[in-house]
Amino acid sequence: MTDNHEQPVLQVEHLDIKFNLRGKVLHAIRDVSLELYEGETLAIVGESGSGKSVLTKAFMGLNDSNGWVDHGSILYQGHDLARYTTEKEWLTIRGREIAMVLQDPMTSLNPLKTIGAQIEEALRLHQGLRGAAARQRTVELLNDVGITEPDRRRRQYPHEFSGGMRQRVIIAIALACRPRILICDEPTTALDVTIQAQIIRLIYDLVHRLHLTAIYITHDLGVVANVADRVAVMYAGDIVEIGTSREVFYSPAHPYTWALLSSLPQLGKKGEELYTIRGTPPNLYHHITGDAFAPRNPNALKADFIERPPFFDITPTHKARTWLLDERAPDIRPPQVLSRIQSLGQ
Ligand SMILES: Nc1ncnc2c1ncn2[C@@H]1O[C@H](COP(=O)(O)OP(=O)(O)OP(=O)(O)O)[C@@H](O)[C@H]1O
Ligand SMILES: [Mg+2]
Repeated sequence: MTDNHEQPVLQVEHLDIKFNLRGKVLHAIRDVSLELYEGETLAIVGESGSGKSVLTKAFMGLNDSNGWVDHGSILYQGHDLARYTTEKEWLTIRGREIAMVLQDPMTSLNPLKTIGAQIEEALRLHQGLRGAAARQRTVELLNDVGITEPDRRRRQYPHEFSGGMRQRVIIAIALACRPRILICDEPTTALDVTIQAQIIRLIYDLVHRLHLTAIYITHDLGVVANVADRVAVMYAGDIVEIGTSREVFYSPAHPYTWALLSSLPQLGKKGEELYTIRGTPPNLYHHITGDAFAPRNPNALKADFIERPPFFDITPTHKARTWLLDERAPDIRPPQVLSRIQSLGQ
């Protein structure tokens, strides 16, 4: 845990985001509240389509134009970003206060320009740095992201870098404007596991060294266990569980979190079939009643099909939206396979 933990740098309250597609309305973010604390690394996990990108893009005004904030607020430094509409307003935030690192490092870089030129461009745009000052800062940034021989490498082109190294360059560009919040949206999906671990470790180090606050979006719960302070689990446009990494990994409470953890390849044993979550997520064009995960939950309670569960506090830092935490609920325990998480160690 980081110090300074009580001060939220960003506060999302009852956020609803909808999209209009060919006359039909898709409810992508459903009443999400979330606090992001200064200096923390928050991981957001959940299946494809659960709303991880839509939620965080809303912090930078990057959602597609057929989408809108239907309800709620996104408070940042006394401003409600949910009310921002013009590019002019967003340009005060985007890149300067909040920066994003995206999935595919190849498409984010210009193949025709040197790495150095691209970083210098960001420095000129956001910090007014030019010439020798910009070059010096470029070398510093490359150094910061762990690229050796920065003065030589800044003169090279993207194709001369490996996938992992390109991702480091993208992070350097994001850092060029000294943002307060760094959002990494599946920055390692295209990379192999060891490189992923290195990039995640790098982001973790940068957060501490440069006093950043980070949001780390991923499918792969396994890779965030050691680096995220907290983990938020999203399902069908909602946060269903949030807690410290320890809490979510060692004492998960929501059946969806159980399912996600059970399907971790790390828990598999030779000759044993890996758990997969059956069924598909709900259609977000339809109204969702009760616990959105209920139709896929083999142990769903009656209440799960009737009423959306409230958040039940488990500890001051850990809460989950599941009727299992209601005092009237039967004693349903997490799947046995989760006991293996303990043996994976921290
Ligand atoms: N422009 C759009 N128009 C209509 N629906 C959209 C639009 N953008 C996103 N959505 C929908 O919003 C929902 C949430 O999408 P989002 O991209 O946030 O998922 P995600 O959790 O980031 O998934 P992934 O892990 O695949 O990146 C999905 O159902 C998606 O189809
Ligand atoms: Mg996404």
